[in-house]
Amino acid sequence: MKQVAIFASGTGSNFEAIVDDVRLKDYMEVKLLVCDQAHALVIDKAKKRNIETFVFSAQNFKNKNEYEKIILEKVKDFDFIFLAGYMRLISSEFLNTFKKPILNIHPSLLPKYKGKDAILQAYNQNEQIIGVTIHYVNEEMDGGEIIASDSIKVEENESLASVTKRIHQLEHQLYPKIILELVRK
Ligand code: GRF
Repeated sequence: MKQVAIFASGTGSNFEAIVDDVRLKDYMEVKLLVCDQAHALVIDKAKKRNIETFVFSAQNFKNKNEYEKIILEKVKDFDFIFLAGYMRLISSEFLNTFKKPILNIHPSLLPKYKGKDAILQAYNQNEQIIGVTIHYVNEEMDGGEIIASDSIKVEENESLASVTKRIHQLEHQLYPKIILELVRK
């Protein structure tokens, strides 16, 4: 049984999609949520499922190294880390120490539209095809080798809200599917 941590800072809909996926339960256990936002909705989602949480505030630490040291101690024996809306870069020291795969999901067809508000960025550019990407994490924002992507075709006059909803639905399908392929190996 693989042991994994999920790092998330937001509503946690991807966290939920991964944790509740029945296919994954045979292969992995989500042992820890790491969250850098004290009021993030994802924290309750973890607590309801009896998943341990480590919630921290970066401003209470001298630097990234200080809080990453604590996180590393907690995750060092885990097999995978999945980022799902975690809003911080992982340092190269962390990557070099942990050494095992860290994945991220980003709501754009990378390398386009890195960073915040990726769906809005693509929508404002009148992209006809908007997608999501799963990639290995490196020290760059939304960088790292691409593992998989999927996309939707934007309908004529489709609202941003509708596109956003469909992109999130796509994320909730794609991330657990790719994780399943990985943890099964
Ligand atoms: C998702 O769109 C994910 O792709 C991005 O951050 C968002 C997190 O949403 N990295 P949620 O907290 O999983 O609902």
